[in-house]
Amino acid sequence: MTVSTELDPLLKYRAVLAPMEGIMSPWFIRACGRLRLVDHWITPFFSVTGGAVPSKRIIRKRLAPYLETGIPITAQVLGKDPVNVVKCASHLVQTGLVAGINLNFSCPSTTVTGNGAGAALLEQLETVESIITEVRKELPETVPLSVKLRSGVSTSSPQDVVKAAVNGGAGLIIFHYRTKDEMYHPVKNGWERIRLAVESAGTVPVIGNGDIRSVSDAERMIAETGCRSVALARAFLGFPTLIHQINGKSDNRKIDLGEEMRSENAPESTIRAIGRLICLQESAETGS
Ligand SMILES: Cc1cc2nc3c(=O)[nH]c(=O)nc-3n(C[C@H](O)[C@H](O)[C@H](O)COP(=O)(O)O)c2cc1C
Repeated sequence: MTVSTELDPLLKYRAVLAPMEGIMSPWFIRACGRLRLVDHWITPFFSVTGGAVPSKRIIRKRLAPYLETGIPITAQVLGKDPVNVVKCASHLVQTGLVAGINLNFSCPSTTVTGNGAGAALLEQLETVESIITEVRKELPETVPLSVKLRSGVSTSSPQDVVKAAVNGGAGLIIFHYRTKDEMYHPVKNGWERIRLAVESAGTVPVIGNGDIRSVSDAERMIAETGCRSVALARAFLGFPTLIHQINGKSDNRKIDLGEEMRSENAPESTIRAIGRLICLQESAETGS
């Protein structure tokens, strides 16, 4: 079955917010929704690595804060067992609440990769391909299916990981240029990896991801790699109008997400988690 690659609503934008497990709390979601900072949600992963598949009731509960914002949702699924990943994706679609499914083959956290899921699966590209094929077979033709990839496990091989995704039937690839082992460390040839990913993907569109911190970073990444658009995560926390600015909207509001979350009665721990990530990114930039 061929599914139109232009079907995915994520392709409407030059920039989208990448998912962040542990950061995208209900208070974060409400604050971003109230301030209309996001055009389309990609949720952090619904995990099936433990063997249990979330019920539709649990799924509805987890999606509730996103739904309150009225912003369309692509839901992400993470797992290594095709049967469970298919079940979870089907449950999500059957709720009628999501605009698309994204499969996570990019998480480098040891809890996830220790279970053989996320970026660890990039060592078994035949499994990656078959998970995508099975999910694609099960979902209605009208439901867009995208994947989120890193460029390998310990060695970067963007062509191979992208080929597995394309062969499996992914309609869109979000490509974070680091390998699993590179975690979040600096990488010199990251954009070249994206360029190779784009080349290997052929007609399947690629959203580039990794360290976009400004409008000019996004413009240059698109121009130099040929990726269709960009996804960004960490920079949004300290610069929440960045997605709007990349998308060409004139939005010069000075927004402190922590303060906005406080006004949603967020626990201080959720605000501190954001502050810590902002500091980490700033110290990586200055080398301090
Ligand atoms: C705290 C945190 C949680 C994350 N959770 C997810 C997740 O649930 N799913 C996913 O695909 N990527 C996840 N990511 C990765 C980001 O979506 C993104 O690929 C990565 O941070 C690189 O983009 P950036 O340099 O713009 O931050 C997470 C990243 C961070 C920092």
